[in-house]
Amino acid sequence: MLSSKIQDALNAQVNAEIWSAYLYLSMSCYFESEGYAGIANWFKVQWKEELDHAEIFRNYIHSRSGRVELKAIDSVPTEWKSILDAFEATLEHEQKVTAMINNIYALAEAENDYATRDRLAWFVSEQVEEEESARTIIDKVKMIGDNGMGRYMLDQELAARTYTQASPLATAE
Ligand code: FEO
Repeated sequence: MLSSKIQDALNAQVNAEIWSAYLYLSMSCYFESEGYAGIANWFKVQWKEELDHAEIFRNYIHSRSGRVELKAIDSVPTEWKSILDAFEATLEHEQKVTAMINNIYALAEAENDYATRDRLAWFVSEQVEEEESARTIIDKVKMIGDNGMGRYMLDQELAARTYTQASPLATAE
């Protein structure tokens, strides 16, 4: 059984993951309309991965006989000043998500809820990857600067990203 404090934190995380998905879908739509099909693809894959993250939390709450409570999803921005602006917003957002994950991890540890702590451990590692991939793209975008060919090459590179389920934990139990 989950404590109400942990259940609330996990439900807030379901909401945050779906908001993340919504944010990245918005970025995908924006770049699609700006002619960057590859960047749009990268964010579309990100959207699907975030939905997987929400699903992992949803499955986990159910597996502990908890109650999933879906709250309203806040609106998201719909445009960005530049490619750099969007990826910097991505990194900033992922850093916030990392802090949320760390807080639930610490809460689980404080409550001796080791099952929740262990499930959170997957997300701790995932957040390292999430932040690293945003940072890597930011570095490339800065290197490219105003170079049109560079932007074209980056778009081609990001077009190659394909979706694979983030974890088998995202499959309904
Ligand atoms: Fe679900 Fe991008 O963290």
